[in-house]
Amino acid sequence: MLNFTDRVAIVTGAGRGLGASHAKLLAARGAAVVINDLGGSAVGSGSSAQPAEQVVAEIVAAGGRAVANFDSVTENPEGIVAAAIEAFGRLDIVVNNAGINQVHEFGTGVMESLRRHMEVHFFGTAGVTAAAWPHLIESGAGRVICTTSPTLIGFPQQTPYVSAKGALFAFVRTLAFEAQEVGIKVNAIAPTAATRMSDEADLPEDFKQFMRDNLPTSLVSPVVAYLAHQDCAINGEVLQAQGGEVQRLVLGFNQGFASKDLTPELVQEHIDEILDPASHTPFATIDKQDLSAVGK
Ligand code: NAI
Repeated sequence: MLNFTDRVAIVTGAGRGLGASHAKLLAARGAAVVINDLGGSAVGSGSSAQPAEQVVAEIVAAGGRAVANFDSVTENPEGIVAAAIEAFGRLDIVVNNAGINQVHEFGTGVMESLRRHMEVHFFGTAGVTAAAWPHLIESGAGRVICTTSPTLIGFPQQTPYVSAKGALFAFVRTLAFEAQEVGIKVNAIAPTAATRMSDEADLPEDFKQFMRDNLPTSLVSPVVAYLAHQDCAINGEVLQAQGGEVQRLVLGFNQGFASKDLTPELVQEHIDEILDPASHTPFATIDKQDLSAVGK
């Protein structure tokens, strides 16, 4: 059994949805948890102490240990980390989950939307992780779990949201190299689950109902708990998780086409080979990745 006795975790955006589910599972298995949540709307406006307080009350009522924190991941990441140290004296696990989602066409106002999504998802994750880093090194079993998205395959009218999630994919893959030098594992999930965010998303109503019936948050959190555990050996990976299915999500290069006399015409002539999905090789795990492959 994977237990978290004596471990301290921060879960951002843990006042509802996936974050609340992750926090409750970690707490039920012995972790002391900082329930961070700004308590805003799904698109990021407003704030309320109620969601985080509610989750803390449920964890404490079940015999667990938790404290609430209402800072925004964008405005006071250091305060979130300080809350863990102040309440529990150490920090081992950071689950970067807080997020917003607003559909936006690539037209007027899109730059503001892009900045807002990057601010919460990317800079929020990077800020909390950076503030936590020295404590995670000190832990000896520091674990960072970020939250990207299956929408990385592309999604219409979601350029702000998916771009920010794509930045997190690169963040995890790259930070993992430094993490392995200091005993930390940095991974991500790409979840799908019925939450307020999915309920308010611009999705067909029958798909929303399918999500409510089949994709509970409780079938994503076990993946987070695995990645949070001191025995987790994987690093720099993204695991897609929905309805009990868990898969590796990767980028890959295909065989493509090569010529030392490359011309625009040769690219045009061989474009089918260059795009051939059948010859793709996914990139290796971090420990086996040959960095001289970059640019080859
Ligand atoms: P949700 O809207 O139910 O919960 C998100 C929580 O984050 C809210 O309680 C909100 O108050 C909090 N939050 C937002 N901005 C914050 C900030 N600046 N500081 C602190 N807290 C903040 O959404 P859900 O679905 O639980 O999403 C959790 C994560 O999973 C998000 O990163 C989301 O993008 C990601 N995700 C969810 C999917 C789904 O199918 N539900 C699909 C792919 C990714």
